[in-house]
Amino acid sequence: MTTEISVAEMRAAHKRTAPFLHNTPIMSSENINEKVGVPVLFKCEHLQKTGSFKVRGALNSAILAKEQEAKGVIAHSSGNHGQALAWAAQKIGLPCTIVVPDNAPISKIDGMKEYNANLVFCESTVTSRESVCAEQAEKLEYYFVNPYDCVSMINGHASIAFEILEQAGDDIDSIFLSVGGGGFASSVAFLIGNLRPDIEVFLVEPEDKQLSNLLANNVPCPVDTLNTMADGVRVAHVGTLCEPILRKFCTGKVISVKEEEIKYALKLVWTRLKQRIEPSAALAFAGVLYHKPEHVKRPLVILCGGNVDTSYVID
Ligand SMILES: Cc1ncc(COP(=O)(O)O)c(C=O)c1O
Repeated sequence: MTTEISVAEMRAAHKRTAPFLHNTPIMSSENINEKVGVPVLFKCEHLQKTGSFKVRGALNSAILAKEQEAKGVIAHSSGNHGQALAWAAQKIGLPCTIVVPDNAPISKIDGMKEYNANLVFCESTVTSRESVCAEQAEKLEYYFVNPYDCVSMINGHASIAFEILEQAGDDIDSIFLSVGGGGFASSVAFLIGNLRPDIEVFLVEPEDKQLSNLLANNVPCPVDTLNTMADGVRVAHVGTLCEPILRKFCTGKVISVKEEEIKYALKLVWTRLKQRIEPSAALAFAGVLYHKPEHVKRPLVILCGGNVDTSYVID
Protein backbone atom coordinates (compact mmCIF):
# COMPACT_ATOMS: atom_id res chain seq x y z
CA MET A 1 0.00 0.00 0.00
CA THR A 2 1.31 3.46 -0.86
CA THR A 3 2.90 5.50 1.90
CA GLU A 4 2.85 8.71 -0.12
CA ILE A 5 0.42 11.61 0.23
CA SER A 6 0.47 13.24 -3.20
CA VAL A 7 -1.76 14.81 -5.83
CA ALA A 8 -1.17 11.78 -8.07
CA GLU A 9 -2.27 9.35 -5.33
CA MET A 10 -5.28 11.56 -4.60
CA ARG A 11 -6.26 11.53 -8.26
CA ALA A 12 -5.90 7.74 -8.37
CA ALA A 13 -8.04 7.39 -5.23
CA HIS A 14 -10.71 9.61 -6.77
CA LYS A 15 -10.84 7.44 -9.89
CA ARG A 16 -10.87 4.24 -7.80
CA THR A 17 -13.76 5.29 -5.52
CA ALA A 18 -15.96 7.54 -7.71
CA PRO A 19 -18.03 4.70 -9.23
CA PHE A 20 -19.34 3.76 -5.77
CA LEU A 21 -19.97 7.23 -4.31
CA HIS A 22 -22.23 10.25 -4.77
CA ASN A 23 -20.89 13.45 -6.31
CA THR A 24 -22.73 15.41 -3.63
CA PRO A 25 -24.68 18.53 -4.58
CA ILE A 26 -23.97 22.17 -3.79
CA MET A 27 -26.78 24.26 -2.29
CA SER A 28 -27.40 27.82 -1.18
CA SER A 29 -30.04 29.87 0.61
CA GLU A 30 -30.89 33.53 -0.05
CA ASN A 31 -31.80 33.98 3.58
CA ILE A 32 -28.40 32.72 4.70
CA ASN A 33 -26.65 34.87 2.07
CA GLU A 34 -28.39 37.92 3.54
CA LYS A 35 -27.44 36.99 7.09
CA VAL A 36 -23.77 36.43 6.20
CA GLY A 37 -23.62 39.41 3.84
CA VAL A 38 -22.00 37.47 0.96
CA PRO A 39 -23.13 34.45 -1.10
CA VAL A 40 -22.35 31.17 0.69
CA LEU A 41 -22.16 27.80 -1.06
CA PHE A 42 -22.69 24.54 0.84
CA LYS A 43 -21.15 21.25 -0.32
CA CYS A 44 -23.73 18.77 0.93
CA GLU A 45 -21.59 15.89 2.06
CA HIS A 46 -24.15 14.90 4.68
CA LEU A 47 -25.93 13.39 1.64
CA GLN A 48 -22.93 11.14 0.91
CA LYS A 49 -23.25 7.33 1.33
CA THR A 50 -23.40 6.54 5.09
CA GLY A 51 -24.02 10.23 5.82
CA SER A 52 -20.48 11.60 5.97
CA PHE A 53 -17.27 12.27 4.04
CA LYS A 54 -15.59 9.45 5.99
CA VAL A 55 -16.68 6.93 3.41
CA ARG A 56 -14.37 8.50 0.79
CA GLY A 57 -11.20 7.59 2.68
CA ALA A 58 -12.65 4.38 4.12
CA LEU A 59 -13.53 3.04 0.68
CA ASN A 60 -10.11 3.93 -0.71
CA SER A 61 -8.50 2.13 2.25
CA ALA A 62 -10.71 -0.95 1.91
CA ILE A 63 -10.07 -1.29 -1.85
CA LEU A 64 -6.31 -0.98 -1.35
CA ALA A 65 -6.40 -3.50 1.52
CA LYS A 66 -8.26 -5.96 -0.72
CA GLU A 67 -5.69 -5.47 -3.48
CA GLN A 68 -3.01 -6.37 -0.91
CA GLU A 69 -5.00 -9.53 -0.13
CA ALA A 70 -5.82 -8.49 3.44
CA LYS A 71 -8.23 -10.95 5.07
CA GLY A 72 -10.41 -8.07 6.22
CA VAL A 73 -10.39 -4.56 7.65
CA ILE A 74 -10.74 -3.40 11.24
CA ALA A 75 -11.14 -0.08 13.09
CA HIS A 76 -12.26 1.20 16.45
CA SER A 77 -15.06 3.72 16.28
CA SER A 78 -18.20 4.93 18.01
CA GLY A 79 -19.52 6.75 14.97
CA ASN A 80 -19.03 7.79 11.39
CA HIS A 81 -15.73 6.02 10.74
CA GLY A 82 -17.15 2.65 11.79
CA GLN A 83 -20.23 3.06 9.61
CA ALA A 84 -18.14 4.22 6.66
CA LEU A 85 -15.66 1.34 6.87
CA ALA A 86 -18.43 -1.23 7.40
CA TRP A 87 -20.27 0.06 4.31
CA ALA A 88 -17.10 0.17 2.21
CA ALA A 89 -16.06 -3.37 3.16
CA GLN A 90 -19.51 -4.73 2.44
CA LYS A 91 -19.55 -2.98 -0.94
CA ILE A 92 -16.34 -4.67 -2.08
CA GLY A 93 -16.94 -7.99 -0.33
CA LEU A 94 -14.34 -7.82 2.43
CA PRO A 95 -14.99 -8.91 6.05
CA CYS A 96 -14.99 -6.06 8.57
CA THR A 97 -14.73 -5.86 12.36
CA ILE A 98 -15.41 -2.66 14.31
CA VAL A 99 -14.39 -2.34 17.94
CA VAL A 100 -17.15 -0.28 19.55
CA PRO A 101 -17.05 1.42 22.98
CA ASP A 102 -19.93 0.20 25.14
CA ASN A 103 -21.35 3.75 25.41
CA ALA A 104 -21.65 4.28 21.62
CA PRO A 105 -25.00 5.71 20.43
CA ILE A 106 -27.51 2.99 19.50
CA SER A 107 -28.22 4.65 16.12
CA LYS A 108 -24.56 4.31 15.10
CA ILE A 109 -24.33 0.73 16.39
CA ASP A 110 -27.43 -0.10 14.34
CA GLY A 111 -25.83 1.51 11.26
CA MET A 112 -22.70 -0.65 11.59
CA LYS A 113 -24.82 -3.78 12.06
CA GLU A 114 -26.89 -2.96 8.99
CA TYR A 115 -23.71 -2.89 6.93
CA ASN A 116 -22.91 -6.36 8.25
CA ALA A 117 -19.84 -5.48 10.32
CA ASN A 118 -18.84 -7.84 13.10
CA LEU A 119 -18.95 -5.74 16.29
CA VAL A 120 -16.64 -6.30 19.27
CA PHE A 121 -17.50 -4.20 22.34
CA CYS A 122 -14.94 -2.67 24.67
CA GLU A 123 -14.77 -0.12 27.48
CA SER A 124 -15.09 3.52 26.43
CA THR A 125 -11.51 4.53 27.25
CA VAL A 126 -8.99 5.23 24.48
CA THR A 127 -6.65 2.58 25.95
CA SER A 128 -9.32 -0.09 25.86
CA ARG A 129 -10.37 0.80 22.30
CA GLU A 130 -6.80 0.69 21.02
CA SER A 131 -5.70 -2.45 22.83
CA VAL A 132 -8.83 -4.48 21.94
CA CYS A 133 -8.51 -3.34 18.32
CA ALA A 134 -4.81 -4.27 18.13
CA GLU A 135 -5.55 -7.70 19.68
CA GLN A 136 -8.36 -8.40 17.22
CA ALA A 137 -6.34 -7.13 14.24
CA GLU A 138 -3.51 -9.52 15.09
CA LYS A 139 -5.80 -12.46 15.74
CA LEU A 140 -7.84 -11.99 12.56
CA GLU A 141 -4.95 -10.73 10.42
CA TYR A 142 -7.09 -7.77 9.34
CA TYR A 143 -5.75 -4.45 8.05
CA PHE A 144 -6.21 -1.64 10.60
CA VAL A 145 -7.70 1.58 9.18
CA ASN A 146 -6.84 4.56 11.39
CA PRO A 147 -9.65 7.16 11.29
CA TYR A 148 -7.46 10.16 10.43
CA ASP A 149 -3.72 9.54 10.76
CA CYS A 150 -3.67 7.33 7.71
CA VAL A 151 -2.28 7.86 4.19
CA SER A 152 -5.07 5.98 2.39
CA MET A 153 -7.75 7.90 4.32
CA ILE A 154 -6.10 11.25 3.54
CA ASN A 155 -5.61 10.44 -0.15
CA GLY A 156 -9.17 9.08 -0.34
CA HIS A 157 -10.88 12.13 1.20
CA ALA A 158 -9.41 14.39 -1.50
CA SER A 159 -12.09 13.33 -3.98
CA ILE A 160 -14.34 15.91 -2.32
CA ALA A 161 -11.85 18.65 -3.23
CA PHE A 162 -11.72 17.50 -6.87
CA GLU A 163 -15.52 17.67 -6.95
CA ILE A 164 -15.57 21.15 -5.40
CA LEU A 165 -13.08 22.44 -7.99
CA GLU A 166 -15.17 20.99 -10.81
CA GLN A 167 -18.52 22.20 -9.45
CA ALA A 168 -17.55 25.61 -8.07
CA GLY A 169 -13.84 26.22 -8.61
CA ASP A 170 -14.51 29.52 -10.41
CA ASP A 171 -17.10 30.73 -7.89
CA ILE A 172 -15.26 30.55 -4.58
CA ASP A 173 -12.34 32.22 -2.83
CA SER A 174 -12.28 30.01 0.28
CA ILE A 175 -13.33 26.70 1.82
CA PHE A 176 -14.41 26.32 5.47
CA LEU A 177 -14.30 22.88 7.07
CA SER A 178 -14.42 21.29 10.52
CA VAL A 179 -11.26 19.85 12.02
CA GLY A 180 -10.96 16.94 14.46
CA GLY A 181 -8.04 14.54 14.07
CA GLY A 182 -7.17 16.47 10.92
CA GLY A 183 -7.36 13.77 8.23
CA PHE A 184 -10.12 15.52 6.34
CA ALA A 185 -8.60 18.98 6.73
CA SER A 186 -5.13 17.91 5.63
CA SER A 187 -6.55 16.14 2.60
CA VAL A 188 -8.50 19.16 1.35
CA ALA A 189 -5.76 21.65 2.31
CA PHE A 190 -3.09 19.58 0.53
CA LEU A 191 -4.99 19.23 -2.72
CA ILE A 192 -6.30 22.79 -2.86
CA GLY A 193 -2.93 24.17 -1.74
CA ASN A 194 -1.25 22.35 -4.62
CA LEU A 195 -3.82 22.85 -7.37
CA ARG A 196 -5.48 26.14 -6.42
CA PRO A 197 -3.36 28.07 -3.91
CA ASP A 198 -5.55 31.13 -4.56
CA ILE A 199 -8.39 29.40 -2.65
CA GLU A 200 -7.89 29.67 1.13
CA VAL A 201 -8.74 26.70 3.35
CA PHE A 202 -9.98 27.69 6.83
CA LEU A 203 -10.10 25.17 9.68
CA VAL A 204 -12.97 25.59 12.09
CA GLU A 205 -12.58 24.14 15.60
CA PRO A 206 -14.41 24.11 18.94
CA GLU A 207 -12.73 26.84 20.97
CA ASP A 208 -10.89 24.60 23.47
CA LYS A 209 -8.88 22.88 20.75
CA GLN A 210 -6.43 25.79 20.33
CA LEU A 211 -5.04 24.44 17.06
CA SER A 212 -3.57 27.80 16.09
CA ASN A 213 -1.29 27.57 19.13
CA LEU A 214 -0.02 24.20 17.90
CA LEU A 215 0.48 25.32 14.29
CA ALA A 216 2.11 28.67 15.07
CA ASN A 217 3.91 28.00 18.40
CA ASN A 218 4.13 24.21 18.66
CA VAL A 219 2.03 24.21 21.83
CA PRO A 220 -0.34 21.20 21.91
CA CYS A 221 -3.83 21.27 23.36
CA PRO A 222 -3.63 20.51 27.12
CA VAL A 223 -6.50 17.97 27.03
CA ASP A 224 -7.13 14.81 24.96
CA THR A 225 -10.86 15.12 24.47
CA LEU A 226 -13.00 18.21 23.89
CA ASN A 227 -16.31 18.80 25.57
CA THR A 228 -18.40 19.83 22.55
CA MET A 229 -21.75 19.02 20.97
CA ALA A 230 -19.82 18.45 17.71
CA ASP A 231 -19.18 14.78 18.49
CA GLY A 232 -17.24 14.08 15.25
CA VAL A 233 -14.44 16.44 16.33
CA ARG A 234 -14.03 15.66 20.03
CA VAL A 235 -10.48 14.40 19.51
CA ALA A 236 -8.27 17.29 20.66
CA HIS A 237 -4.98 16.41 18.92
CA VAL A 238 -4.36 16.25 15.20
CA GLY A 239 -2.51 13.25 13.76
CA THR A 240 1.23 13.16 13.18
CA LEU A 241 0.78 12.92 9.39
CA CYS A 242 -1.72 15.78 9.45
CA GLU A 243 0.18 18.28 11.58
CA PRO A 244 2.91 19.27 9.06
CA ILE A 245 0.37 19.55 6.23
CA LEU A 246 -1.89 21.79 8.29
CA ARG A 247 1.08 23.85 9.46
CA LYS A 248 2.18 24.40 5.85
CA PHE A 249 -1.20 25.26 4.35
CA CYS A 250 -3.36 26.55 7.21
CA THR A 251 -1.22 28.45 9.73
CA GLY A 252 -3.10 31.67 10.49
CA LYS A 253 -6.33 30.16 9.11
CA VAL A 254 -7.83 28.54 12.20
CA ILE A 255 -11.20 29.80 13.42
CA SER A 256 -12.43 29.00 16.94
CA VAL A 257 -16.13 28.76 17.58
CA LYS A 258 -18.28 28.71 20.74
CA GLU A 259 -20.93 26.09 21.50
CA GLU A 260 -23.83 28.60 21.22
CA GLU A 261 -22.52 29.55 17.77
CA ILE A 262 -22.53 25.90 16.62
CA LYS A 263 -26.06 25.55 17.93
CA TYR A 264 -27.39 28.59 16.09
CA ALA A 265 -25.58 27.63 12.86
CA LEU A 266 -27.19 24.18 13.12
CA LYS A 267 -30.60 25.74 13.57
CA LEU A 268 -30.15 27.98 10.52
CA VAL A 269 -29.12 25.13 8.25
CA TRP A 270 -31.99 22.95 9.47
CA THR A 271 -34.59 25.69 9.12
CA ARG A 272 -33.32 27.72 6.13
CA LEU A 273 -31.35 25.31 3.96
CA LYS A 274 -33.70 22.53 5.16
CA GLN A 275 -30.81 20.10 5.52
CA ARG A 276 -30.54 17.85 8.57
CA ILE A 277 -26.83 18.14 9.26
CA GLU A 278 -25.02 17.04 12.43
CA PRO A 279 -23.34 19.49 14.85
CA SER A 280 -19.85 18.75 13.45
CA ALA A 281 -21.03 20.13 10.10
CA ALA A 282 -22.68 23.16 11.71
CA LEU A 283 -19.29 23.95 13.25
CA ALA A 284 -17.86 24.83 9.81
CA PHE A 285 -20.80 27.09 9.00
CA ALA A 286 -20.52 28.80 12.40
CA GLY A 287 -16.99 29.77 11.35
CA VAL A 288 -18.41 31.71 8.38
CA LEU A 289 -21.48 33.05 10.14
CA TYR A 290 -19.66 34.53 13.13
CA HIS A 291 -16.00 34.86 12.23
CA LYS A 292 -15.63 35.24 8.46
CA PRO A 293 -12.53 37.30 7.72
CA GLU A 294 -13.46 40.60 6.05
CA HIS A 295 -11.57 39.83 2.82
CA VAL A 296 -13.53 36.59 2.21
CA LYS A 297 -16.28 37.27 -0.34
CA ARG A 298 -17.20 33.86 -1.78
CA PRO A 299 -16.97 31.13 0.87
CA LEU A 300 -17.88 27.47 0.45
CA VAL A 301 -18.77 25.49 3.56
CA ILE A 302 -18.42 21.73 3.61
CA LEU A 303 -21.37 20.18 5.44
CA CYS A 304 -19.33 17.13 6.43
CA GLY A 305 -21.97 14.88 8.00
CA GLY A 306 -25.62 14.28 8.79
CA ASN A 307 -25.62 11.44 11.30
CA VAL A 308 -27.57 12.90 14.14
CA ASP A 309 -29.75 11.02 16.61
CA THR A 310 -33.43 11.56 15.92
CA SER A 311 -33.86 12.25 19.63
CA TYR A 312 -31.64 15.33 19.21
CA VAL A 313 -33.61 18.46 20.10
CA ILE A 314 -32.92 22.10 19.28
CA ASP A 315 -33.90 24.83 21.78
C1 LIG B 1 -18.99 14.51 10.56
C2 LIG B 1 -17.55 14.64 10.86
N1 LIG B 1 -16.96 15.84 10.69
C3 LIG B 1 -15.65 16.03 10.92
C4 LIG B 1 -14.85 14.99 11.37
C5 LIG B 1 -13.40 15.27 11.63
O1 LIG B 1 -12.58 14.62 10.71
P1 LIG B 1 -11.02 14.51 11.04
O2 LIG B 1 -10.92 13.66 12.27
O3 LIG B 1 -10.44 13.84 9.84
O4 LIG B 1 -10.54 15.88 11.26
C6 LIG B 1 -15.42 13.72 11.55
C7 LIG B 1 -14.60 12.60 12.01
O5 LIG B 1 -15.06 11.49 12.17
C8 LIG B 1 -16.79 13.53 11.29
O6 LIG B 1 -17.38 12.34 11.44
